Amino acid sequence: MRVTDTGDLWWKSAVVYCLDVETFMDWNNDGVGDFAGLAHRIDYLAELGVTCLWLMPFYPTPDRDDGYDITDFYGVDSRLGHLGDLVEVIRIAKDRGIRVIADLVINHTSDQHPWFKAARSSVTSPYRDFYVWRDEAPEEDAEPVFPDQETSNWELDEKTGQYYQHIFYKHQPDLNVANPLVRDEIAKIMGVWLQLGLSGFRVDAVPFLLDTDGIVGGPEALPDPHAYLRSLRAFLGRRTGDGVLLGEVNLPRDEQALYFGGADGEDGDELTMQFDFIAMQNLYLSMARQDATPLADALRSRPAGHPDSQWANFVRNHDELTLDKLSDAEREEVFAAFGPDESMQVYGRGLTRRLPPMVGGDPRRVRMVYSLLFTLPGTPVLFYGEEIGMGENLDLDGRLAVRTPMQWNAGKNGGFSAAKPSRMRTPIVEGGFGPQHVNVETQRRDPDSLLNFIRSLVRHYRNSPEFGWGEFEVLDQALPSVLAHRLRWNGGEVIAVHNFSSEAKELSLDIPGIDGDASLNDMLDGGVIDLTASGHAVIPLVGYGYRWLRVIRHPDTTQY
Ligand code: NOJ
Repeated sequence: MRVTDTGDLWWKSAVVYCLDVETFMDWNNDGVGDFAGLAHRIDYLAELGVTCLWLMPFYPTPDRDDGYDITDFYGVDSRLGHLGDLVEVIRIAKDRGIRVIADLVINHTSDQHPWFKAARSSVTSPYRDFYVWRDEAPEEDAEPVFPDQETSNWELDEKTGQYYQHIFYKHQPDLNVANPLVRDEIAKIMGVWLQLGLSGFRVDAVPFLLDTDGIVGGPEALPDPHAYLRSLRAFLGRRTGDGVLLGEVNLPRDEQALYFGGADGEDGDELTMQFDFIAMQNLYLSMARQDATPLADALRSRPAGHPDSQWANFVRNHDELTLDKLSDAEREEVFAAFGPDESMQVYGRGLTRRLPPMVGGDPRRVRMVYSLLFTLPGTPVLFYGEEIGMGENLDLDGRLAVRTPMQWNAGKNGGFSAAKPSRMRTPIVEGGFGPQHVNVETQRRDPDSLLNFIRSLVRHYRNSPEFGWGEFEVLDQALPSVLAHRLRWNGGEVIAVHNFSSEAKELSLDIPGIDGDASLNDMLDGGVIDLTASGHAVIPLVGYGYRWLRVIRHPDTTQY
């Protein structure tokens, strides 16, 4: 093992956990989660095996986009506590071996941010160029990101008679990163949070941030937006040494590589990690079809990239489960399988559900998917509550359906808060996926629970550096419903097989490169599968079955 690799590049085998302080744990019982509550739950995250906590926006906000509309980049929303409480969380997490990162939302501000208030007060305001203005809204305009609320990406400011750009809601004016003063402010913001102990950022809306076409002065105002991203990464590196930029880049494969740096990502000097939106969307298509081919193709199509860059794998995030990169027909297949009702769909492109209700609570399918998450090449990212199989509340509007309070026990408000239910900021999930049936306390005691299953997956993932670091390939075999993939790193070799079909299968697998006495040791159940001298194995799989297999060459040299 190379010493430099494992320490500095911690993100390569991290287990990331995303939460919103507001919905995680309410310690002062006012119906809103807070940092004090989170501080009391850090040991829970440590017990799960989390190594990196991603905090969704906690900054002062009018809260019209769940905190992604910020009025002060240097503060903490007073409903959640104060700066001291946040620093306590960072300190406690660090003590338990957990790094903390936070959302960096620099594509836009709230329209209540003092910069925007000043900018719109007059065309000569020193803050005018902090935002993007035009005399006319362009005739050719991209489709708004939130088509249920917006019809354009430009809004007329009555007082000054010009239009400002807003890629998201009209109350989120876009910052003008072509303005060097804005870039200085962004660096200062990053610097403050890094100084307080953050280990990096989840960078919101990266392609929009770098898309300077709409900007006053045209693209020539910031001729090379990727040079700007490079400079952010370099700045982060100078300040922290090992900080991470985990970017939200939901683009087609051929455009993603650029955001790692270099045409094929080979420079590795921009984003440290990117979420794999393409694999995520094709995972659902594969589930809908009971055919692993779409996911296998998505994985094969990943750009090569730089060895130090990393893909972040996820099953669910806090937004709509977007299916925008599938074809219309494919999206309809997923809608039909997992969200046929219109109340389960949003923006014409996504689902508002969590996985367990989508598969009718079938534990075999849920477990197969999380087994897959922890074996896919890259770094797994969990959204809070996934580890216990939480569901959604479809009575809540759009994306809010999956942002319900964490379910700690079967008691009042799911143990999230002792506030009167009428004071709860966000209602809990009702019915079969509500706290009575799905909660941490019960699952902690049950050795067969999803929580304990996921804990064991985390342990195996962390004990098998191949998943985070390894050279990856999809193995050829004859069963369309099965994904068989292999990861090799530093002399170690693991093979994961996942059956997307409800029917049992017998997988006949040839493992390239085996020459001599070897076997496959099942990491999950301890069983041993024989290999012929030329590397052939017969691997039985139950319906929705999965196996994590370590290749052991005899005499055994690799032990984990
Ligand atoms: C992406 C975030 O994930 C989403 O929740 C938010 O609404 C938009 N960016 C705007 O900040």
